[in-house]
Amino acid sequence: MCSLIQKYNVPGPRYTSYPTVPHWDIDTFSGKTWKATVKKSFDESNASEGISLYIHLPYCESMCTFCGCHKRITKRHDVETPYIRSVLKEWELYCNLFSEKPKIKELHLGGGTPTFFSPNNLKYLINGIFKRATKAEAYEFSFEGHPNNTTKDHLQALFDVGFRRVSFGVQDYNETVQKAIHRVQPFEKVKEVTEVAREIGYTSVGHDIIFGLPHQTLRHVEETILKTKELMPDRLAFYSYAHVPWLKGNGQRGYKDDDLPSAEQKRRQYERGKELLTQVGYHEIGMDHFALPSDSLFQATQSGTLHRNFMGYTATKTQLMVGLGASSISDSWYSFAQNVKSIEEYAHLVENDIIPIYRGHILTEEDRVIRKHILNLMCGFETSWEQPEMYFDEINEVVQALEEMRNDGLITITKGRLQVFENGRPFIRNICMAFDLHLRRKTSKTRLFSMTI
Ligand SMILES: C[S@@+](CC[C@H](N)C(=O)[O-])C[C@H]1O[C@@H](n2cnc3c(N)ncnc32)[C@H](O)[C@@H]1O
Ligand code: SF4
Repeated sequence: MCSLIQKYNVPGPRYTSYPTVPHWDIDTFSGKTWKATVKKSFDESNASEGISLYIHLPYCESMCTFCGCHKRITKRHDVETPYIRSVLKEWELYCNLFSEKPKIKELHLGGGTPTFFSPNNLKYLINGIFKRATKAEAYEFSFEGHPNNTTKDHLQALFDVGFRRVSFGVQDYNETVQKAIHRVQPFEKVKEVTEVAREIGYTSVGHDIIFGLPHQTLRHVEETILKTKELMPDRLAFYSYAHVPWLKGNGQRGYKDDDLPSAEQKRRQYERGKELLTQVGYHEIGMDHFALPSDSLFQATQSGTLHRNFMGYTATKTQLMVGLGASSISDSWYSFAQNVKSIEEYAHLVENDIIPIYRGHILTEEDRVIRKHILNLMCGFETSWEQPEMYFDEINEVVQALEEMRNDGLITITKGRLQVFENGRPFIRNICMAFDLHLRRKTSKTRLFSMTI
């Protein structure tokens, strides 16, 4: 396994979209085509399945030095109300495009730290959204909470407006690691918020843990998982630490490259983590995720309805996902668009009735076929090009590029069908990279992605 890790540990995308953001064709993109594809997608899907909403709440009180998310650090809470007003204004701009009231199937509050905002302000935000929308059948509303500032009032306020799923950032319970990433967070705090969420009635409580952090050892990962076992979250994100210090402003400093575990140590942390989680009763879902059999994410893998979008894995697939807030990404299936990242510019644009996107991509027919292959691989570890609608001209080159992985016993390809073996799963990003025609045609000279392992 060690030599395979050396061989396949190259920079690679996580495929929350295809094409990935660095390969978007911004020259053929325009606000006009974006709006047209949103309208088309809405008309095709709102009545049957509804739409998804992602709302980015970018503020955090304190900077975690490992963090790759788009956030603004401040202790000033007077930023809350103006930001929510901007989000509601942006929502109004989208609703003006729609031919009828949107039905919301999936709603996710991400960040930054949604629980930076007061419970009342969060309620005000959600009620504002539903002044112009209704809830779809079997909706799933979720949010990300920081264990250090999530209160009972936050949990209750969001429960009252329909939220049943929450995920808490944990990362690692070891104090040395916590100090290195500038995030001191005792187990008792995580225990308290997890228990309160359950008492209130949340049906899915998730924890995010990470391997490969600075100063993190195999022992720390084991101890974190043993502590996790005491709380048995319904879902677990078990992320590989993405080290991307060259991206501007993400604050990944405060430790040296030498403080990070090697690729081999990292892989052992993942293998051991997976082994322990499986022993405890979790099932691996696609890449990075584990769930108990009672959780909807596991049930979606069983029924073949697991989907992946910018939020990661989800049990509820919709064709249209509108992303509100600074830096949010939207997906109409036919196109992607990203909002401006500066909060000030975002507020200014929506105030002037402009949908605040600054870049995007219109998918070609070929993009959509490849996107389906990558979704199949990421969600079900297999794909097939037997059906004419899944065939594409460069498939032979893709198969050739996968030859080495086939020889290494990681995958099998027979009669137009690729299946990934259990020992090939850690290399799923590499397998998807073979299908990524944009990457193949335009291998960038700049480092854009973190390592695959
Ligand atoms: C927006 S945060 C979660 C909510 C809240 N802000 C918190 O930290 O508790 C989203 C999650 O992304 C993950 N994350 C952030 N930066 C990462 C990185 N560089 N590599 C891997 N995972 C990362 C962390 O597990 C984190 O909990
Ligand atoms: S990990 Fe969460 S709290 Fe920490 S900086 Fe990132 S978004 Fe903010």
